[in-house]
Amino acid sequence: MNLFRTTLLAAAAATAVLATPMAMAQGAKLKVGLMLPYTGTFAALGVAIENGFRLYVQEQGGKLGGREIEFVKVDDESDPSKATDNVNKLVKRDNVDVIVGTVHSGVAMAMAKVAKDTGTLLIVPNAGADAVTGPMCAPNIFRSSFSNWQPGFAMGEVVAKKGHKKVVTITWKYAAGDESVKGFKEALEKGGGQVVKELSLPFPGVEFQALLTEIAAAKPDAVYTFFAGGGAVKFVKDYAAAGLKKSIPLYGAGFLTDGTLEAQGADADGLFTTLHYGDSLGTPRDSSFRLAYAKSYKLQPDVYAVQGYDAAQILGTGLAAVKGDVSKKAEFAAAVQKAKIDSPRGPFTLSKAHNPVQDIYLRQVVGKENKVVGIASKGLTDPARNCRM
Ligand code: PHB
Repeated sequence: MNLFRTTLLAAAAATAVLATPMAMAQGAKLKVGLMLPYTGTFAALGVAIENGFRLYVQEQGGKLGGREIEFVKVDDESDPSKATDNVNKLVKRDNVDVIVGTVHSGVAMAMAKVAKDTGTLLIVPNAGADAVTGPMCAPNIFRSSFSNWQPGFAMGEVVAKKGHKKVVTITWKYAAGDESVKGFKEALEKGGGQVVKELSLPFPGVEFQALLTEIAAAKPDAVYTFFAGGGAVKFVKDYAAAGLKKSIPLYGAGFLTDGTLEAQGADADGLFTTLHYGDSLGTPRDSSFRLAYAKSYKLQPDVYAVQGYDAAQILGTGLAAVKGDVSKKAEFAAAVQKAKIDSPRGPFTLSKAHNPVQDIYLRQVVGKENKVVGIASKGLTDPARNCRM
């Protein structure tokens, strides 16, 4: 090709872009940056979130708000020290239109900071960091999952009602563990109980032995815990192996037994947990979701799959209102704010801080299922402390 022809072609291309910026913006693919853990203790959670997200997009014919979706993926390794670089790659190098992520609260806080600073749309499909819909809340930040406070608070009420007075807590020492315990403690104390000891180990450690020995020595009425993913599998097995399951009832935020039951086997049997999803809801909405998920992925869905699916629903709701033009941020936010999200968990709305207002179920492990045995807290709203927007 000669130089003259190349120049002409380039000029024609440039003119096309200049002449029809709106048409291009809406006709071009929408770039979704998936920043999730694909390695480490939360790897399976990241995969379930992506699966759920893709399932909804596929059900919509591959388009949201009239735009085809293109994915760019980053493995965040659940490593907060790499989080800012990772999210900046998506925003600055890949020029994504929206970021979807992540699982780990510490990583999510770094993502929220970048989203707030750059105005990039962020939808959090798991990480419960209270700050994301608290002090860091913003018009362009949404969450399809929960705040760490929510399942913790709901379980505090349950444990208090059961009449347990002295409780030991055990978790990973980072935002999610700390905040889950804090929510639990708030409700337990209101109900007349007391946290007598708070045990923790660094994330993602699984050396539980010394801590289990401390629990045995303290002889509390009950134990409350937050663990998830691979760490949750090991904790439940170690708790049983140490002989504690027979003597001290174990309660948890539902992540303890979600997506983990195959690996935990009988050691999880009978455990009570609180979460915004369960395996036996039996509603038409959930049943059709579960069937579609199982068909697509040859896997049973879990809470993470639901949160990924609902992240796509939130994005689809906002995009439909702005006809695919993500630059219309106020209209996008207003549409999402008014919407009732038709989630497999049951319909939910978003609070002013953009966190789900939702029922928290009480579940009990029966065989390979987190069977819903009641509603621990109806329409629970995160207090969104220090969110100004
Ligand atoms: C979190 O870090 O916020 C987190 C991680 C895994 C879960 C739930 C919360 O399952």
